[in-house]
Amino acid sequence: MKMGSAFLLIMVSILGTAIDGCNCKIAQFIFGDSLFDVGNNQYLAGSLAKANLPWYGIDYGDGLPNGRFTNGRTVSDIIGDATGMPRPPAFLDPSLTEDVILKIGVNYASGGGGILNETGTYFIQRLCFYKQIELFRGTQEMIRRKIGKQEADKFFQNARYVVGLGSNDFINNYKMPVYIDSWNYNDQSFLNYLIGTLRQQLQLLHKLGARKLMLLGLGPMGCIPLQRVLSTSGGCQEKTNQLAVRFNQAASKLIKELSKSLPNAGFKFADAYDIVRHVISNPGKYGFSNVDSPCCSFGPIRPALTCTPASKLCKDRSKYFFWDEYHPSDSANLIIADEIMKKLGFLFRGNHTVVPSP
Ligand SMILES: *[C@@H]1O[C@H](CO)[C@@H](O)[C@H](O)[C@H]1NC(C)=O
Ligand SMILES: *[C@@H]1O[C@H](CO)[C@@H](O)[C@H](O)[C@H]1NC(C)=O
Repeated sequence: MKMGSAFLLIMVSILGTAIDGCNCKIAQFIFGDSLFDVGNNQYLAGSLAKANLPWYGIDYGDGLPNGRFTNGRTVSDIIGDATGMPRPPAFLDPSLTEDVILKIGVNYASGGGGILNETGTYFIQRLCFYKQIELFRGTQEMIRRKIGKQEADKFFQNARYVVGLGSNDFINNYKMPVYIDSWNYNDQSFLNYLIGTLRQQLQLLHKLGARKLMLLGLGPMGCIPLQRVLSTSGGCQEKTNQLAVRFNQAASKLIKELSKSLPNAGFKFADAYDIVRHVISNPGKYGFSNVDSPCCSFGPIRPALTCTPASKLCKDRSKYFFWDEYHPSDSANLIIADEIMKKLGFLFRGNHTVVPSP
């Protein structure tokens, strides 16, 4: 009892600084792929991975496409809302200013991006993790010029960092014979290469000031509609899922290790793999009627074309786990976000079940 309330108090005081009056604003810096992109790819003229056409965003704000690769909120939108953090704008959003960065933070996530530089070349233009970190360094320069080195160092050390990449390194690289990595590596050596690269990237972020960082694990990516159509039964690709499981085990170990070895690092690993598998095996229990095909779909031309303005939408978007061939729906993201917050012991603040707001 005593321990419980002490814990609660600590949580309240940590979150308190983020939300109430005090000038010490806590910003969020988000790095990731299309699961976290809030519009960067819209501004990449050459990118083939864009969510800038209907029906993307239909359940978000005014219902117009906003660059998110889903119908509503991303997992980091939901976690941020529930813990009192504003939603950081896309780095490439022309309205981004230093004041906004100081108040809210920035989102560098980019559809098609991976841990590896060579992932997603098929999409022609995307920001890989190293590129996102490079842009973050540019942001740091800008903020240092504005508020001075000392204040800037404090600001970046107090900020929250979210990192969510890796699916593309498998789906749009290793598992695709058009990529050279699929020839040069086997499962284990590719995994070692990925985790080794991720280690360097997280160490670099720590060197740049990141202290409170959450790394998101991979979901059962063999169960996305795009992978299911590869099998005659329409079932999940278990070999692909196994890669996600092994990535998660290795990433979790890496995070524990870095948290111990890097000064003041409070790195956390957020894994929702098991719950997603459970939902997929027991859809009714969670209020889903469909967990294997996209809500926004181009029917017989699946999966070559995913969600387009000419696609048909499912009747009840809240009952479909997948929004398009790759990405979970808003309702699916809500379950994933809830699981992560439960596991990491985040305090719920406000009403996280409310429908999306801009
Ligand atoms: C990856 O890309 C970054 C720039 O985005 C570059 O600085 C780095 O050298 C590249 N790394 C490799 C191994 O190619
Ligand atoms: C959260 O919002 C929903 C929808 O507006 C409402 O039905 C529910 O009662 C609210 N829950 C709490 C705990 O306020």
